[in-house]
Amino acid sequence: MSATRRSVLAAAAAAALPIPALAQAGGLITKPIPSSGERLPVIGVGTARRYDAAPGEAERAPLRATLKRFHELGGRVIDTAPSYGQAELVVGELVSELKIRPGLFLATKVGADSKEAGRAQIEASFQKLRTDKIDLIAVHNLRDTANQLATLRELKQGGRIRYVGATTSVDSQYADFEAMMRRETLDVVQVDYALDNRGSADRILPLARDRGMAAWVNLPFGRGRLFQATQGRPLPDWAREIDCTTWAQVFLKYVVSHPAVTCAVPGMAQARYVDDNLGAARGRLPDAALRTRMEQFIDGL
Ligand SMILES: NC(=O)c1ccc[n+]([C@@H]2O[C@H](COP(=O)([O-])OP(=O)(O)OC[C@H]3O[C@@H](n4cnc5c(N)ncnc54)[C@H](OP(=O)(O)O)[C@@H]3O)[C@@H](O)[C@H]2O)c1
Repeated sequence: MSATRRSVLAAAAAAALPIPALAQAGGLITKPIPSSGERLPVIGVGTARRYDAAPGEAERAPLRATLKRFHELGGRVIDTAPSYGQAELVVGELVSELKIRPGLFLATKVGADSKEAGRAQIEASFQKLRTDKIDLIAVHNLRDTANQLATLRELKQGGRIRYVGATTSVDSQYADFEAMMRRETLDVVQVDYALDNRGSADRILPLARDRGMAAWVNLPFGRGRLFQATQGRPLPDWAREIDCTTWAQVFLKYVVSHPAVTCAVPGMAQARYVDDNLGAARGRLPDAALRTRMEQFIDGL
């Protein structure tokens, strides 16, 4: 068979593949959690605000479609927290309905003021998420860190959780967060970072790298702020150099191309956002020179 005929047949076969097989064939960009080497796709789903949904089908349907699409495209990380209202409950319910728990990486948090309150909250997370193993629990916003980390380490030792982490999303906590990172052994830290909000790149992200911690990014769109800043503007020519067709992909590729960052968790509650945002886990990522141009572009708006 000629090479041309072979490639025509391969293209036809690829076009006919069901979506999950295509996702595997096409592949999503993954990065490892340094403490284990386990690789995860660089884009996950954040569930703050939008997954705090009422019980009705009208509220559940778009969220179900979002998680279904996310799974079909090879997505794995879902980030939630007890403080996101009904979000853990909604995620647990939908994941169970869709029967997609195997292969997902469920991450939640603990935000409590005592060891007892933390334990109770964590047990409730297992119930709400309808799972006997949670992949990652992180101390939320430095709340009662020492006590909660002690509990999380016991749970990891006992095999009920796989990874231990800590999160923040405000500059006013950075100094304390950095001190905590120097003191503690953690698998994952989660911090805010976006093209127009780069403070965590000064010290926290490099420190994560030095300490062998995976750095996950929250608020990669600044809660939508970046879309407002670029509204009505065409994509710059350089977006093509990194295979971006939308602003969302530009913003996410900037974040996940930072050498310390292993995953970003944009909030998505619509299936079309999943198609768009997982596009940032495919194709080329910006190098250091292009990252600087991206920063100059956004700073110049
Ligand atoms: N301290 C912490 O631990 C902490 C703090 C904050 C957040 N987080 C985590 O980080 C996640 C992300 O934060 P976030 O959801 O607040 O903010 P975000 O990811 O910066 O922005 C999410 C918003 O961007 C819009 N969006 C998403 N994809 C889009 C697309 N392709 N095109 C156009 N618009 C799009 C959506 O707005 P609409 O829904 O309005 O359309 C969405 O709600 C949270 O869900 C949570 O899991 C953790």
